[in-house]
Amino acid sequence: MKKFYITTPIYYVNDVPHIGHAYTTVAADVAARYNRLRGADVFFLTGTDEHGQKVEAAAKQRGISPKEHTDDMHLAFKKLWAELNISNDDFIRTTDQRHIYVVRKILQKLYDKGDIYKDSYQGWYCQSDERFWTEKDIVNKKCPDCGKEVESIEESNYFFKMGEHQEWLIKYIKDNPRFILPESRRNEVLGFLNQPLGDLCISRPKERLPWGITIPFDEDYVTYVWFDALINYITAPGYTVDDERFNKYWPADHHLVGKDILTTHSVYWSTMLHAMGLPLPQNIFAHGWWTVEGEKMSKSKGNFVSPHGIIDEYGVDAVRYFLMREVPFGLDGDYSAKAIVGRINSDLANNLGNLLSRTVKMTEKYFEGIVPQAGEENESDKALRARIESVVANVDSMMPDLAFSKILSEIWLGIDEANRYIDSNTPWTLAKTEEGRVRLNSVIYNTLEALRIVAYLVIPFMPESGEEILKQVGSAKVLGEDSLKWGGLKSGSSAAFGRHLFSRIT
Ligand code: ME8
Repeated sequence: MKKFYITTPIYYVNDVPHIGHAYTTVAADVAARYNRLRGADVFFLTGTDEHGQKVEAAAKQRGISPKEHTDDMHLAFKKLWAELNISNDDFIRTTDQRHIYVVRKILQKLYDKGDIYKDSYQGWYCQSDERFWTEKDIVNKKCPDCGKEVESIEESNYFFKMGEHQEWLIKYIKDNPRFILPESRRNEVLGFLNQPLGDLCISRPKERLPWGITIPFDEDYVTYVWFDALINYITAPGYTVDDERFNKYWPADHHLVGKDILTTHSVYWSTMLHAMGLPLPQNIFAHGWWTVEGEKMSKSKGNFVSPHGIIDEYGVDAVRYFLMREVPFGLDGDYSAKAIVGRINSDLANNLGNLLSRTVKMTEKYFEGIVPQAGEENESDKALRARIESVVANVDSMMPDLAFSKILSEIWLGIDEANRYIDSNTPWTLAKTEEGRVRLNSVIYNTLEALRIVAYLVIPFMPESGEEILKQVGSAKVLGEDSLKWGGLKSGSSAAFGRHLFSRIT
């Protein structure tokens, strides 16, 4: 059986989740659900990043310990994922004992191998990004990444010999064109690697930052939050604890990340894995950034979009659909109420919703809800079937590229074709004559069958709506290859109109 392992970043618990976090997680969920549908053995991992300065500062501000803060805050993510129908198989917290164990084991192994050394260091530290910059990186004492003020810090620390993997990494990225996607981001990483790659500071003295995983060979230090966090991807499938399970799922098929954290994944993580002697993930996909009505989202600007708020207002499936349809995965996007309402009215209520309600209502009116048996195919039946079959094939070939928006457009080509098929076959006229009624059997069956296949393709994106379509057309849900083959709907089963999938918003 084919395996499929997909991850989201593990999110910092310094604040509550927003639509940016929802975006990555919904995207991973769509790919996981699609692969399950096609019969793969799927492992879908998400979780929370709970150590480090940001989280410690957030706890301090609330006047509670970091442990109390993280125990409380990680629940906000779990709650949102339940609300968004996220089907993750595991939820890792970096404060889990299983994770602490693996991080310490890896540190010890790399230290024993001579890949980690101690040195004293002066650098410019950015609190917000939790990283050091060198003199030449900073601009007017500001972080080149986030623009916030940096401070000069001198201390002894442990370093991972990242620099020695530079040539190997460049070659690896060049030899494996699918390793970093989209291509523009891959070129950015190669550009970054044109500069000499230094070693990575992987410790923080406890006296400055106690909230982290203690370094096994020096009690006075904790592990740098990124070195700790990246390891989650191998902790969860069982690295060093369950070899069989680990070897089944690793390497991951996709790490989904926002473009903000591509360097840490493609450079830090790749060199760490290489030093450990482990294969690299098949693909790191860096998606774009969401703004709100053209502006960067932030609480201080007052334009923070709460996922709970928009789920309550528009429904979970409409939110999932909007996020996946509005912007090609990889490019930046903009959220606005106008844009989501537009999508709901045209794509969901009109095209999909109407197709379902009119087809099922006609099945009730002309056949008392019993799915009829199709007769011999004519040209128009063939054209509908051919369109649906080509949609299925195209979706399957686009999914490895995570081209969610294109996939949805493709599925909607099938929906449009089915709507046109009804309009040109005019079942309401066929119902009036005896001869017409023979033909009506085929027209209703074929439209219901097109809807059944559309339902399966829609389920990964909108699980509740996809399952509702299946129910209304009278089909049980089955997983595996056959579900997408034309002709699966059984005549004689019962179709029944339940509810409108989506209502127009005025
Ligand atoms: O970086 N648009 O956690 P984080 C799109 N803990 N995606 C967005 C977004 C936006 N406006 N804002 C956030 C961390 N995201 C680390 C990760 S992984 C080993 C450690 C999404 O809470 C996007 O996926 O800051 C981004 O990469 C992630 O949230 C950053 O989440």
